[in-house]
Amino acid sequence: MGKEKLIKKYDNQVKMYERHRRNKVLADWRNKLIKHASGRVLEVGVGVGANFPYYDREQVEVTGVDFSPNMIKSAKEAASFYQVKAKFIEEDVEDLIFEDNSFDTIVSTLSLCSYPNPIAILNQFNRWCRKDGLVLLMEHGLSSNRLLSVTQKIIDPLYSKISGCHCDRDVSMILDKSNLQVVHIERYRSDIFYLIRAKPSGTKTGHRDR
Ligand SMILES: C[S@@+](CC[C@H](N)C(=O)[O-])C[C@H]1O[C@@H](n2cnc3c(N)ncnc32)[C@H](O)[C@@H]1O
Repeated sequence: MGKEKLIKKYDNQVKMYERHRRNKVLADWRNKLIKHASGRVLEVGVGVGANFPYYDREQVEVTGVDFSPNMIKSAKEAASFYQVKAKFIEEDVEDLIFEDNSFDTIVSTLSLCSYPNPIAILNQFNRWCRKDGLVLLMEHGLSSNRLLSVTQKIIDPLYSKISGCHCDRDVSMILDKSNLQVVHIERYRSDIFYLIRAKPSGTKTGHRDR
């Protein structure tokens, strides 16, 4: 799907994501993950700011990135409501340029599934995150249950056309191939959902020199 079409698709999903903010299961997972965020935080694919209730607003300054203008508008409202210090960049994550070691924490929730090359994006996180910082991920992917994973693979072409994101990403493989070092991982719901804390490694590949 072309980028413009994908942005429109997400622009039209704002109301749905605003309703998801009240999802109790997701709220518990967000809380578990986001409490580890501190300092200068980059949140990529920030959506409607569903993680903002869980940041310690005394501890963080968030840079929220999204390519959907409607998502950014909703995220700005959420930041103001929850009094989180935040600025926003309307940009494709693939086009972002930051100095190495710019952030103490990088957050991505339910967003890797949308990127054409998730390994390259994780490698950018590896560059942008300080050596002693944390990359916090809540992602979904292929189940460890054979029947479910086969179904996910079968429905993915239609699913991605409708939603804009893939349901058959092999998250473990993507992490293994990236430069990040996983320090903690939890899996839920037939292993479809992942909560991950990772650290940057010394290996700095990526497209900084494009
Ligand atoms: C599935 S939503 C998740 C939103 C939010 N992180 C959450 O946890 O609810 C994916 C978000 O990533 C954004 N997104 C997808 N691809 C992107 C890209 N290439 N660059 C920037 N934002 C992107 C979408 O606009 C959308 O807001």
